[in-house]
Amino acid sequence: MSLKTVPYVVAVVLIFTTFPYYSGFPACPFNQTDAVGVKLDVFPVKFFHRVGPNDCYEKCQVHGDCLSVNYHRINNYCELLNQKKSETNIFTPNPNFDYMELETIVDQSDKHCGGVTCDRFSTCVFTISNSICIVTECFAPYPALHNGHLSVRTFSPTTATYACNSGYTGVGPVNKITCPPGGTWSAMSYTCFPPVHGGWGGWNSWGNCPVTCGGGYHSRQRSCNNPSPKYGGNNCGGSSNETVACNTDNCATPSPSPD
Ligand SMILES: *[C@@H]1O[C@H](CO)[C@@H](O)[C@H](O)[C@H]1NC(C)=O
Ligand SMILES: *[C@@H]1O[C@H](CO)[C@@H](O)[C@H](O)[C@H]1NC(C)=O
Repeated sequence: MSLKTVPYVVAVVLIFTTFPYYSGFPACPFNQTDAVGVKLDVFPVKFFHRVGPNDCYEKCQVHGDCLSVNYHRINNYCELLNQKKSETNIFTPNPNFDYMELETIVDQSDKHCGGVTCDRFSTCVFTISNSICIVTECFAPYPALHNGHLSVRTFSPTTATYACNSGYTGVGPVNKITCPPGGTWSAMSYTCFPPVHGGWGGWNSWGNCPVTCGGGYHSRQRSCNNPSPKYGGNNCGGSSNETVACNTDNCATPSPSPD
């Protein structure tokens, strides 16, 4: 290779590593061949403007509810769908759209793989001499989180990250779990708590009156600890300190000494 061609080679390698979509590897996980010029006629759960098809796929992949997308090729408009094509969810012809399914989720059926059949946890891999099924998926379904939801998921490695529903506060060290191929999920330790509003404890006893006659003031206190506000709950309303007059009787004045 001459020195003059080196920059070109470097540039080509850079392009191929920076934009894997164009590298010739099967980076795009959608089977687009059967869904060009159509959109699935369901209401999107989320949409994005100005994203490429790969970004659209990635947004579907990390969205807990996404099973497929309608992608508008002209406007680069991406609709995430929580349903996939079925007998009741049908395509509408539209030349600007491509419909794409998230393969790892959608392909729940057994797959023919040369002479063998791969189950839904396995992926067919073609080798030079034959085809084999390799276990690639978690065997267990996604666990449920009370008052929470699956917010991000990834494949290879298989992970699931959970978040609390709006208004709830998550407590615990582990909200991201993993699952080895053919295995089950690691343990989650994460709890979503609703807000706890503060409540007043009882009043302390009155402080000593600073005077024995003629009127003074003493006060007593209470704390917002029954319970203390937690997880975004409101503080107690009203005052923690009450002050009233005390020993208001006139002091007996010594009678003027008769002269
Ligand atoms: C993609 O869709 C075509 C047409 O339906 C089908 O023949 C092919 O097997 C599909 N490919 C994959 C990888 O699912
Ligand atoms: C309670 O209120 C009185 C009167 O305003 C004040 O003198 C006293 O310092 C307060 N006590 C506390 C603990 O805030």
